[in-house]
Amino acid sequence: MNATTASTDSGTPVPSAEKCPAFPPPHEFSARAHLGSLEDYRRLYRESLESPMTFWRRMSAELDWKEPWKELLAWDLPHARWFVGGQLNASYNCLDRHLAGPRCHKAAIVWEGEPGEVRTLTYRQLHWEVCRWANLLSRSGVVDGDRVVIYLPMIPEAVIAMLACARLGAVHSVVFGGFSAKSIRDRILDCGAKIVITADGGYRKGKIVPLKERVNDALEAPSGVERVLVVRRTGERVPMRAGRDCWVDKELKQVDARSEAKPLDSEHPLYILYTSGTTGKPKGILHTTGGYLLGCALSTKYLFDLKDEDLFWCTADVGWVTGHSYVVYGPLALGASVFLYEGSPDFPQPDRFWRMIERYRINILYTAPTAIRYFMRMGERWVEPWDLSSLRLLGSVGEPINPEGWLWYHQKIGRGRCPVVDTWWQTETGSVMIAPCPGATPCKPGSATLPFFGVDPAIVDDQGNPVPSGTHGRLVIRRPWPSMLRDIYGSPEALRNTYWSEVPGVYLTGDGARQDEDGYFWITGRIDDVLNVSGHRIGTAEVESALVSHSKVAEAAVVGEPDPDKGEALVAFVTLRQGEAGSEELKNELRRHVAQEIGAIARPKEILFTATLPKTRSGKILRRLLKELVRSGQIEGDTTTLEDPATVAALSKEVGKAAD
Ligand code: WT7
Repeated sequence: MNATTASTDSGTPVPSAEKCPAFPPPHEFSARAHLGSLEDYRRLYRESLESPMTFWRRMSAELDWKEPWKELLAWDLPHARWFVGGQLNASYNCLDRHLAGPRCHKAAIVWEGEPGEVRTLTYRQLHWEVCRWANLLSRSGVVDGDRVVIYLPMIPEAVIAMLACARLGAVHSVVFGGFSAKSIRDRILDCGAKIVITADGGYRKGKIVPLKERVNDALEAPSGVERVLVVRRTGERVPMRAGRDCWVDKELKQVDARSEAKPLDSEHPLYILYTSGTTGKPKGILHTTGGYLLGCALSTKYLFDLKDEDLFWCTADVGWVTGHSYVVYGPLALGASVFLYEGSPDFPQPDRFWRMIERYRINILYTAPTAIRYFMRMGERWVEPWDLSSLRLLGSVGEPINPEGWLWYHQKIGRGRCPVVDTWWQTETGSVMIAPCPGATPCKPGSATLPFFGVDPAIVDDQGNPVPSGTHGRLVIRRPWPSMLRDIYGSPEALRNTYWSEVPGVYLTGDGARQDEDGYFWITGRIDDVLNVSGHRIGTAEVESALVSHSKVAEAAVVGEPDPDKGEALVAFVTLRQGEAGSEELKNELRRHVAQEIGAIARPKEILFTATLPKTRSGKILRRLLKELVRSGQIEGDTTTLEDPATVAALSKEVGKAAD
């Protein structure tokens, strides 16, 4: 196995072979792992591509099917149906089937609230709650196929609500608690939800997040929402609207705990999750039941090497796909114990994570590079005092992890003992696509390594031709996989255009990557107008349209700038309307405005007022030049297509001024 020298497009050097050797799986890990050698991985991987029928027939037995599937895949690009004719229920697979055996009284969820409360729910207890909630939803008029928006903090009720929807065949759409009233409203309207589930608030950095108030604002204008179910979390007084809003604890007194999980078609919609793309409007990514659940369960088993005795902690919020697949569906389908934490990693101090790992003896930690960089910056003194010897595996997701971060994670958190699985995937892919099998695949810090079963990735040039190894290009997936997105809710024609047509016949990920001589994938980040801020996807067009909706703004262009903490930070170039003048106050006002329109995560770090923006003769803003400007302070790229070449000089001056 050769280690590799590589560099990313953003200019970040990846350490050379000497500095960054490959890390073979530790022997004691491999000896106990579900997959213990590279040969085993390769054999299964090859089988998954060459004999998919045999492979998936065997693997699909990981789930409990009410009705066995007849046909593996019906593929009519861009529409896939997997495990055709099969029937199952995700809630049943995550709960009921574990009750018959020794998992019945095992912890399904171990939860810690930010203020410090602890709650444990066994599989039996979780099942009981989910059944009551399913009955509560039915009583509220929810039927199979209805959309339910969930806007909750990270409390067990978030998981309960999702599984209660799945039990009935209702489609949940979880909205991350950091999103604004406007974002909630847009999502409610887009998916046509009749019901919203929220809480009186949640705790974050010692403060209360006013979830209910935001939902009220979101529903101020007519919306089609008939009922708002409110979980009591903080006990604060919140405005309730009579006839529409009710307290969950009160309503639950009216229902019993008998509920059958409804057998659903393998392709029955499970959830819609909104994510940012290159347009001004988030896309509702639709996932269905059979293929998605199997993708989650298998990847959890083989990539996190999950065992019955593990306590698994994926730190993602359930508002993101990572929370759907690796807090809820993957681990619970396997009957695992899942740890859940409500709050912020730095509350009350930067050692909160390590304190909890010691206290609960967490075995697997799956977090994001942005968190790792934060801990690195805070310094080892916050980590060192804690007993992290329970940890046996570490995972990373959300953005490329730089080798320095990887090594720090491996040494300081894993104390050199734990494999680190860098997992590449997307909201659209549903489950992990490229990652090491920890007992089998030697790791190279900074590389997501090799594809998971059934995944057929390649790197191509702009014309769609494969590029030689070592050459940077576009990452594509050459065939459908079980947990792939099935639709963009409400805009079926966009599915083909967005993912399956730019390079005909293959799925375009939007990421750039290269493959080294060992076939390892090195993902370098987005190559479209999507930014990655602290592991969260933000479309530049969305932020631009938020800025332009402010009465003083004429035009805006948003680009990303490398940021040591966040990975990327937003820089906005803003042209004001005639008669308006730029000022520090206006910058703050615009930042507030964006937070109100989208959420705090989209707030630009820098705002530069400029008289003009660089445009082509057809009026298209050349973001490429702006990107170059914020990265290097000058523009050397091709400016021949500019309508007015003088804008470049003017802009360079503006940026220079801002830096002073
Ligand atoms: C984008 C997807 C999927 C979970 C969380 C984010 C970037 C994600 C990695 C990784 C390099 C990564 C990609 C991808 N990304 N994981 N391990 N290495 N880049 O989901 O919001 O849908 O974002 O996150 O750019 O396209 P998402």
